Amino acid sequence: NSNGPSRNERSFPRDRLSRRKTPMASLTIIPGRPLQGTISVPGDKSITHRAIILTALANGISTVARYCRGEDCLNTMRALQGLGIRIDESDEELCVHGKGLWGLTEPSGPIDCGNSGTGIRLLTGLLAGQDFFTVLSGDESIRRRPMGRIVKPLREMGAVIAGRKGGELAPLAVTGSRLRAITYASPVASAQIKSALLLAALFAEGTTRITEPRLSRDHTERLLKFFGIALQREGTTLLIDGRPSVGWNAAPRLVVPGDLSAAAFFIVGATIVPGSDVTIQQVGINPTRVGLLDVMTRMGADIQLLNRREEAGEPVADIRVKSARLHGVAIGPDLIPQTIDEFPILCVAAAVAEGDTIISGAQELRVKESDRIATVSAELRAMGAQVTERPDGMIVRGLGTAEDNGRLQAVCGHSHGDHRVAMSLAIAGLTASAPTSIDEAACIETSFPDFHHTLLELLGECR
Ligand code: S3P
Repeated sequence: NSNGPSRNERSFPRDRLSRRKTPMASLTIIPGRPLQGTISVPGDKSITHRAIILTALANGISTVARYCRGEDCLNTMRALQGLGIRIDESDEELCVHGKGLWGLTEPSGPIDCGNSGTGIRLLTGLLAGQDFFTVLSGDESIRRRPMGRIVKPLREMGAVIAGRKGGELAPLAVTGSRLRAITYASPVASAQIKSALLLAALFAEGTTRITEPRLSRDHTERLLKFFGIALQREGTTLLIDGRPSVGWNAAPRLVVPGDLSAAAFFIVGATIVPGSDVTIQQVGINPTRVGLLDVMTRMGADIQLLNRREEAGEPVADIRVKSARLHGVAIGPDLIPQTIDEFPILCVAAAVAEGDTIISGAQELRVKESDRIATVSAELRAMGAQVTERPDGMIVRGLGTAEDNGRLQAVCGHSHGDHRVAMSLAIAGLTASAPTSIDEAACIETSFPDFHHTLLELLGECR
């Protein structure tokens, strides 16, 4: 295109004053300006999946406001529509016509969960105890990710699930069956395992007990309680009774808090670009999610939580971040669950900090949308950072000096099809000395369709 960048190759432009409609194939970041202003981020992705599922099982019509419109959640919405639930969709809210606990019906074709581990794992748990047959699959990344971690305990409950490699890999074929409660100690602190089992337990006879080695995000528990469903916690063990006799009522208006995992990119961006001052409104600050805030604060970041309140049983606040000089820290196994999705962007902060950041006990990063230990190490190394990979983490040698945070080199970065890697590289590019481009950036759509636009707003390009 001789008249400038093509639609899919927009370099950092003034041509995007309206919402982007076409996912971009590549993203170009031009550094040199501070991030300033007040923004919102999408509704929490984890909570949106759960809100769609639990309102579909409620008696009556619920409104889910400020939901995440990323592809992952839209796939879960389409899945429930395929399961016979009417969901009216607008940009601002979903209107879910719940049909009660036993109201789902057999879909006419396979369920496509796209890129979403949460979608496929929670839906498999939900569908294990129905009286019909379903097939669940997703994109190439989903078909590589471990499913045995949910298939094994679900089979103990009586579920009939087939899949590639004995049920280790999707596609998964679920022949709904009568489930019984189990006592299960999960070897992994995973909210997806816990939530798949909690959903299956709703349809099982008896009291299911689920123990996890460390507390993972507790959005399912909070939302079940929000709907009045009895659930007990004893340490890291949850107890839930199956087959509630009356079910639960719809939520007239459930407002999803902003996603801390989306806010994380701007929290780090504002910290590492000198002269920045950013406020992110209405962000979820659930204690099982705020590892990034704790780690960044330990690294020297200037983060304030303002206007704390509660929404849909979840704590929220406005987060104000000003630029600050960072130093490296150690992040051990205790901090992994509450920080799990933030390691790609945390490594960007570590790369420009002064001194070493040592991450251990984070082997779960190897089975995310990409192997994030490998992909983040490779990409940051290409930008001039010194990163050593370990089986369960990495050591990032920061480029910073005592006077200032360091700068990365401009390159052409690769997202590896992983939305969080793509957005992390975009923020890394803000510290580089020349424009950075990130290829395969369309994956950002899975969680944060307006990411580029929001970044442009903070850089003063959209005013
Ligand atoms: C999620 C749980 C986490 C997280 C994922 C979302 C959820 O995965 O990484 O992005 O919504 O339950 P694990 O359960 O595999 O730790």
